[in-house]
Amino acid sequence: MTQYKVRGGHELRGEITISGAKNAALAVLPAAILANGVCRVENVPKINDVTLMLEIMRDLGVSIRLVEDTVIEIDASAMINIPTPYETARKLRASYYLVGALLGRFGKAEVALPGGCNFGGVRPIDQHIKGFECLGADVKVRNGLIKAYAYNGLTGSTIYLDMASVGATVNIILAAVLAEGLTVIENAAREPHIVDLANFLNRCGASVRGAGTDIIKIRGVKKLNGCSYSIIPDQIEAGTYMTAVAAAGGDITLQNVIPRHLECITAKLSEIGVFVEEFDESVRIVREKPLKRANVKTLPYPGFPTDMQPQITAVLSVANGTSVITEGVWDNRYRYVDELRRLGAHITVDGKVAVVEGVPALSGAPIHASDLRAGAALVVAALAANGETRISGVDYIERGYENMVEKLRGLGADIERIETETLVAPLLELVVS
Ligand code: EPU
Repeated sequence: MTQYKVRGGHELRGEITISGAKNAALAVLPAAILANGVCRVENVPKINDVTLMLEIMRDLGVSIRLVEDTVIEIDASAMINIPTPYETARKLRASYYLVGALLGRFGKAEVALPGGCNFGGVRPIDQHIKGFECLGADVKVRNGLIKAYAYNGLTGSTIYLDMASVGATVNIILAAVLAEGLTVIENAAREPHIVDLANFLNRCGASVRGAGTDIIKIRGVKKLNGCSYSIIPDQIEAGTYMTAVAAAGGDITLQNVIPRHLECITAKLSEIGVFVEEFDESVRIVREKPLKRANVKTLPYPGFPTDMQPQITAVLSVANGTSVITEGVWDNRYRYVDELRRLGAHITVDGKVAVVEGVPALSGAPIHASDLRAGAALVVAALAANGETRISGVDYIERGYENMVEKLRGLGADIERIETETLVAPLLELVVS
């Protein structure tokens, strides 16, 4: 079993470089299936979720060539359209983007349903299905597969999303770029990775307008060509290191960021007494004073991101006073709270609301990560906690953070990745499986 061993209570100092955005890469890579030519994609994050996506694409006959460390070339011209196997698709939530991409290219897709939500509750896909159906596809969810067929091709349509779903917006864009006529997505998600996907597709010759606003218009084109494209930096990775220094104290600089994408995180950190200085492509974060309390409500972009909710809760657990966190995107995203309590945090949860009574200090204990951002929050808390913390379940963290241990060590953190004997499977894993 792999664990992170963290000896906390030390300030962070230095400079690190942020990697390409996970959630942008997971949309852009399958989008390359739509192109008739080689797509050179740069700034691809070296994370397990990307490896899984590329493995699934390779199984479909897509040629994938690693050109440099973070640069790959994708050529889908010789690919075949076979059902994606359950064993790989279930491991990756974003495998459902293959439905939009395959439907767009072949008019037919059969993709194993991705696994359930690992932060509690179900993750419905009704808005994705509604979108495909509006474009003229017949969609069935049966025997663990999403089957979508466009017997007469796809035709543009107006689709109103009941909620600004990132996944549904991506999937509808993917299906619509080669469809006949105009598709309009109303109440579309506005996240930076939606804009990144649109920029990539437009570079290939698509016509996607309005990405970044809540109305996206896609005029179908006959074909897409290959292109060269660089993925945006990861807003959530950057935000996670910002919260790490907020919790542990110190003075760090993050290179390769888009400060505008970090505004919501910067504003909240400034409110609690952290100094944030923005440059063209970097940010400096300094935490010298004690932290003040704050209320946080997560919302779709440009609101405070749900993917930063666990990390900011970890920070506020060592702030002066009582903070109230309200989760506004997911039904339940507080499984990590029990683990923070093991470090001495005082947090109570009632439905979508967590009340955090700040404590003067946390202290190290063995804890377990139940999902990606939960794991990130536990690392943030462990860096602030006195003494040693061992974090298990780090596979989740490595799905979405490139070299987190090395990057934190570069900031002077005392953190190691260690292998230990597994005598008994962690209870949480038994419950989940
Ligand atoms: N929803 C529906 N029906 C749908 C789709 C979504 O009811 O058909 C609901 C969801 O249950 C949720 C809300 O709408 O309550 C938002 O879901 P959304 O579709 O926006 O989320 P997603 O596309 O499944 C992506 C990210 C998540 C991130 C959310 C919200 C990827 C691969 N995943 O998920 O990222 O939390 O958007 O910003 O892009 C993470 O990186 O750790 C992560 C979980």
